[in-house]
Amino acid sequence: MGSTIIGCGKSLPALEVENDELKALVDTNDEWITTRTGIKSRRIAVDETNADLGEEAARQALGWTEGGYAERRIEAGEIDLVICATVTPDVVVPSAAGLLRRRLGLDNAIAFDVNAACSGFIYGLTVAETMIAASASNVAGAAGRNPIKRALVVGAERLTRLTNWSDRNTCVLFGDGAGAAVLEWNEERAGILSSFIVNEDDITNALTCANAFDAPQPFDKDGISLEAAAAGDPALPRTDEEIGTHALVEAGRPRQVLYMDGPKVFKFAAEAMTTAVRQAVERAGITLDDVACIVPHQANERIIKYAAKKLGRPMDFFQLSIAHTGNSSAASVPMALADAYEQGRIQRGDKVIVVAFGGGFTSGAVVFEA
Ligand code: COA
Repeated sequence: MGSTIIGCGKSLPALEVENDELKALVDTNDEWITTRTGIKSRRIAVDETNADLGEEAARQALGWTEGGYAERRIEAGEIDLVICATVTPDVVVPSAAGLLRRRLGLDNAIAFDVNAACSGFIYGLTVAETMIAASASNVAGAAGRNPIKRALVVGAERLTRLTNWSDRNTCVLFGDGAGAAVLEWNEERAGILSSFIVNEDDITNALTCANAFDAPQPFDKDGISLEAAAAGDPALPRTDEEIGTHALVEAGRPRQVLYMDGPKVFKFAAEAMTTAVRQAVERAGITLDDVACIVPHQANERIIKYAAKKLGRPMDFFQLSIAHTGNSSAASVPMALADAYEQGRIQRGDKVIVVAFGGGFTSGAVVFEA
């Protein structure tokens, strides 16, 4: 018995931008981007909102529309929990999950967001699975909790709204999209076998984005002050210093954009991915030989190649969806998972690993039986 993935879907914005097109913005070329990352093009949400993308992916996972993979149609009233993993919600309140709940009419569901950067879907899956297992178990207190039998876990991002389009080191890497999965408690099937999630302090601030909340505030230390509203937020410089955005601010750049030290993140990511896979497999009480395929975060094909070598597995053991999506943060794993199902890579009973790493730093893996 366990929480089983019974549906999966994905959604991409309409605009596709090829590598060479980015030459109009920065000094780059298709050859550099392809050999360093495996990316050929990315999708950019111009008209589509985070909720538009998430809604379409969820509809597929619920079996309401063509595309993705759905064992059967799940009715709106059957979903008890919606978790949306995102760092780019359309608004702060209501949550991205709350908007999806409204749009999809999931009136019985509780809904909230998870921010664990690119690992968000793995964290969301783990939270959902834990809540489902707790409500199915006989442990003390289980009866006093919200009964959760089915969950919708979505990863939806418009990362290109945080991208610094004048920085060739980062802007070529990212894209937008959404993916979704439906989890259901099943007495007969094993479903999720293990989860390993871990945080590590990004001490050098190698991956940051300060989306400062700096609405004019008419207060100073003594109380109401209309002058203070015009002067701006005196606490912001401390935040900039803390997360390393002061260099951007000093250079006159907007503080909302993503900053990344690529080589440092690469090193962290390659190790984190390998560790997470090994730990999750061990926790599941199986070996890598029992696993049909790994669906990794699609950040850079070279990171996947590094992990493949370390884990002693060929590249075709890994789902590769990066070529036409780029890195879509929390949307990347569920989108790649939907691809793996659609391409027939995952059959009933197969053991599969989903694994990701991201800003924070966060990382983790989940092992499940399809
Ligand atoms: N086009 C052309 N040249 C570029 C470029 C671009 N888009 N971006 C950087 N370069 C240049 C650099 O300026 C540098 O030139 P220099 O040697 O003259 O200074 C050169 O290419 C090499 O840069 P380097 O940073 O050493 O390349 P790299 O092999 O580390 O690859 C990344 C860069 C960003 C692709 C790689 O570090 C990476 O993938 N990091 C992890 C990113 C990631 O996964 N982030 C998300 C985590 S969730």
